[in-house]
Amino acid sequence: MTGNISPTIGAPPPVTVLSYVVLEVADLDAWIRFAEDLLDVSVERNGSLARIRIDSRTWRWELRAADEDRLVALGWELPDDAAVAAWLAAVPGAVAGDAASRSAGSLAYVTGPGGVRHEVVARPRRATDPCVTGQGTRFVAENLGPGHAVLVLDGLDEAKAFAHDVLGLHLTDTITRGERVVTFLHCRGRAARHHSLALVKGTGPAQLNHLMLEVTGLDMVGRAYERCESAGVVSRGLGMHTNDRMVSFYCRTPSGYEIEYGWGGVVVDDADWQPVDHPASSIWGHDKR
Ligand SMILES: [Fe+2]
Repeated sequence: MTGNISPTIGAPPPVTVLSYVVLEVADLDAWIRFAEDLLDVSVERNGSLARIRIDSRTWRWELRAADEDRLVALGWELPDDAAVAAWLAAVPGAVAGDAASRSAGSLAYVTGPGGVRHEVVARPRRATDPCVTGQGTRFVAENLGPGHAVLVLDGLDEAKAFAHDVLGLHLTDTITRGERVVTFLHCRGRAARHHSLALVKGTGPAQLNHLMLEVTGLDMVGRAYERCESAGVVSRGLGMHTNDRMVSFYCRTPSGYEIEYGWGGVVVDDADWQPVDHPASSIWGHDKR
């Protein structure tokens, strides 16, 4: 991939994992009901802000009440404060940010392709109490991060170069169906989520296609499916993906984009992973509603 980093500056340290997602939402009340009742995540509301918890971190998604629905930022982790400082020094346009506002020890950010703010943090805060949800759902997160984000945006080549050169993500694979190509990217390491970020060509500023949550058992996918079916928000039925082998369904959020809710996603070892192109996205299912 072509880079937009000057070779004289040196490559920034690669991020280790997706850490958090910050969203502005037009209907916070509806989002909290959706999150608690259907996704069965833990929600802590403080006025116009709600934080969603799924593991030992104090939060993984932040929802802020706003006039419009918008992806504000994706947060990525670096190993320590020195790595955040090195990233800040190496990335043109990057600035230091308010780490406390993201419950972290240090923070830097830059606006990437499509207008998405990418933040890097070190020393994210952990909760002292266990994560408890209303119906006992348990999520696969911790060192794999809270899931993945799929973005649709103009300037796909620029976005891929940014992901590689600025975040240090590696290509996992692609899915090509006619004109539509989805590019899946993982964080480096011996045990990384199949993809923490995926990119799809679109027009205009970046839009969220979906965020993914992974649970620890197929039964929890089934129970969430029943809740979402009853609420009439299932947007793609149960199915299994070709590339990350995840068994999942999709539901429509109050913001319009989707949540993928799944189980059994592949973990990749970056040292010996070979990218391939898949001709279909699903082995079975995922029918659109
Ligand atoms: Fe997904």
